[in-house]
Amino acid sequence: MPQIPETVHELTVGQLSSRSGAAVSALHFYEAKGLISSRRTTGNQRRYSRDTLRRVAFVRAAQRVGIPLATIRDALAQLPEERTPTREDWSRLSETWRSELDERIRQLNRLRDHLTDCIGCGCLSLENCVLSNPDDVFGERLTGSRLLAEGR
Ligand code: FES
Repeated sequence: MPQIPETVHELTVGQLSSRSGAAVSALHFYEAKGLISSRRTTGNQRRYSRDTLRRVAFVRAAQRVGIPLATIRDALAQLPEERTPTREDWSRLSETWRSELDERIRQLNRLRDHLTDCIGCGCLSLENCVLSNPDDVFGERLTGSRLLAEGR
């Protein structure tokens, strides 16, 4: 990754992209979702403060472990004056996300263990197939045509 001199306090979207490893389109997406922000130059070009690099690193690390963007945005919004997350922030937030990840891992392990039953089957039965109806959630919530009822 290219180094950006310490004297540079604002980054173009290209610099932010090349330094962070995030695609320009991803950075625009993050901005649209309120995860990062920029100011506009008189020529209407985006400029990001240097600490946006750390914010992008935070977002990407959280995404890598499967944290939804909405959860990441909420976490960033809790920081005072929307400051850049510190090492302590990451430590605290990642600890709160641990139980969520543990639950997701438990569900994935269960799906993996049952996948062999589905290979070559293809029934996708709501009664028998764990891929089609994990934890029998439809059976617990409603009776009758469950998928149709939920689609409305
Ligand atoms: S596809 Fe038949 S049990 Fe999953």
